[in-house]
Amino acid sequence: MTDHIAFSVDKQALLLLDQRFLPDREECFVCRNTADMIYALQTMVVRGAPAIGVTAAYGCYLAARESAEAGPAWKDRLNTLLTELEQARPTAVNLRWAVERMRAQWAALPAASLDELLSTWLGLAQDMHSEDIEICKAIGRHGADLIADGDTILTHCNAGALATAGYGTALGVIRAAFEQGKRIQVIADETRPFLQGARLTAYELAKEGIPVTVACDNAVGHLMKRGMVQKVVVGADRIAANGDAANKIGTYTVALAAKAHGVPFYVAAPASTFDLRIASGDEIPIEDRTPREVTHIGEHRITPENVPVYNYAFDVTPAELIAGIVTERGVLTAPYVASIRAIIGGK
Ligand code: MRU
Repeated sequence: MTDHIAFSVDKQALLLLDQRFLPDREECFVCRNTADMIYALQTMVVRGAPAIGVTAAYGCYLAARESAEAGPAWKDRLNTLLTELEQARPTAVNLRWAVERMRAQWAALPAASLDELLSTWLGLAQDMHSEDIEICKAIGRHGADLIADGDTILTHCNAGALATAGYGTALGVIRAAFEQGKRIQVIADETRPFLQGARLTAYELAKEGIPVTVACDNAVGHLMKRGMVQKVVVGADRIAANGDAANKIGTYTVALAAKAHGVPFYVAAPASTFDLRIASGDEIPIEDRTPREVTHIGEHRITPENVPVYNYAFDVTPAELIAGIVTERGVLTAPYVASIRAIIGGK
């Protein structure tokens, strides 16, 4: 499960496990150029904030190869391709973070030839790939301390190995607690409309023998009222300097229900998911996706023709609803402005 971002240097392509077809079949999607990369990101062949970041790092390398077609103007062409790549999806800040990290290394080597840049960037992308797995494991170690033997943990969307370079953030916490021998159960929210919970979280956990039950998104309040949930752990796509956290649409509703029932609500995310340039979650851009994801299930229309739908892909959970933010550097608690400044950085 750690190899959903597989990079083949021989074929000069990025091979991605195509998440659109899970759990039905494990099929590979081949990216050979920037257009393929953008398509893969936008159609969610690959998704999840840290996975988007690592994929984009490899995407920069592919963009550099592609820029050779422009001959002496390769630098201009490469800058254009990087800007296009960076804009593929708006909410997960890890995409911008990864492209900026690659650009910074290029800026540090202003006289580098294209061949030199290619070899440096391939190395950096591979480092970011392996670093992300280690970061998830550290998140898991810190977060597992919050989980008690016998807990049932509810999670929303998929913040697992499929959403990272491996191991997962929210599912990293769950994996680590399970590996410690804690007898835990997981409730995976379906996560309409793309069904990351029903399809991907359930697939990942079942494959590893971690007990998981799928529930409709609208069952959350009922399950909590019945005392069937002891903790909530979710991932994040962007966390503002005050601790407000954007994650998959529906996360905010889960956090409100958790608050009403006294269930601790935790966010698990790497330092690369913090955006210290923004003061609060109000500034986080929210992706608005195609209505078709809501109006159809597969080829079958489920809403009347000509009725408009909302398909906001993310929402923002205010910091005051979050009991702790689990990072690779430890668990941050309120007041978040101070703990984020001390442990993550910023002004
Ligand atoms: O639209 P997606 O599937 O990319 O959204 C993913 C999420 O919201 C995840 O919870 C988030 O990226 C955290 S992944 C470790």
